[in-house]
Amino acid sequence: MNLVTGATGNVGSNVVDQLLAEGEQVRVFTRDKAKVAHWGGRVQVALGDFTKPETYAEAVSGVDGIFVMNIVTPIDSFRQFLETAKANGTPRIVFLSSLSAADPVNLVGKLHLEKEEAIRASGLPYALLRCGGFMSNAFGWLQTIKSESTVYNPMGSGQYAPIAPEDIAAVAVRSLRSPHLSAETYNLTGSQLIDAPQQVEILSRLIHRPLRVVDITTETAVENMVRYGIPAPIATGVAKSFESIREGKAAMATNTVAQLTGRPPLTFEGWAARHVDKFA
Ligand SMILES: NC(=O)c1ccc[n+]([C@@H]2O[C@H](COP(=O)([O-])OP(=O)(O)OC[C@H]3O[C@@H](n4cnc5c(N)ncnc54)[C@H](OP(=O)(O)O)[C@@H]3O)[C@@H](O)[C@H]2O)c1
Repeated sequence: MNLVTGATGNVGSNVVDQLLAEGEQVRVFTRDKAKVAHWGGRVQVALGDFTKPETYAEAVSGVDGIFVMNIVTPIDSFRQFLETAKANGTPRIVFLSSLSAADPVNLVGKLHLEKEEAIRASGLPYALLRCGGFMSNAFGWLQTIKSESTVYNPMGSGQYAPIAPEDIAAVAVRSLRSPHLSAETYNLTGSQLIDAPQQVEILSRLIHRPLRVVDITTETAVENMVRYGIPAPIATGVAKSFESIREGKAAMATNTVAQLTGRPPLTFEGWAARHVDKFA
């Protein structure tokens, strides 16, 4: 049995689908049963919340692997989650982390690193999936694509190698199913260097509609994220990544996905084609 947290998110939902496709048993951890109703009887549901430690025990009971998507929970509660899991056995912990954990100059990097350290200290077998920017961040452009045919871009024409949630999930599933997992850290990106205007051009072609790219400052990007409910310190940390992309400091790609899965990761065009209905 595998517990998937963040199961209704971009990556976790793919982890659930891919585990089910492999014939694995899945329990999903969610605050809202309605959000997982589409899986019907194919998954067990653990109604839970990382801010409510009393929901941990039932969720982790009898699991062999846990996909952990969580950075904002206070570290004491996070440690308690790991201790509760360990009291139930030795489940493999697969943690959705960030490349920023390697150089934690801002809050986002620090939050990922402190969770990684708690996992290392737990003594449980683990895989830390340190990811670069997700392709699904393009869903953040949906609203202004629909209302103004415009993408507001704080990354200029800086290149980076975004990764598809589907590919992160493939690595996660491989780790969750690996009986010999001990202590792994993977740096995960896509394989194709691309900038935001090129991504918008691809989306425009796929939805047969001209789209405009308007450059915005880091400050405006922070204001926009805060308006959408992201806490200001996190928004400021995320904006640092945009700055680093704009300055050309993120123009690198790893081949870890291909090495681990035996197939090349999705290109942005391949990913966008799968999700074109959302953008149209
Ligand atoms: N975006 C990037 O470029 C990037 C790059 C590197 C790393 N990351 C990492 O990836 C994460 C985002 O992953 P994603 O895009 O798959 O997530 P997402 O789509 O934003 O999904 C959020 C998930 O978090 C769950 N959640 C929120 N608060 C919760 C709580 N209190 N208790 C339990 N679950 C809670 C939600 O579950 P319910 O609503 O069902 O309860 C939902 O499934 C970031 O936080 C970061 O750690 C992101």
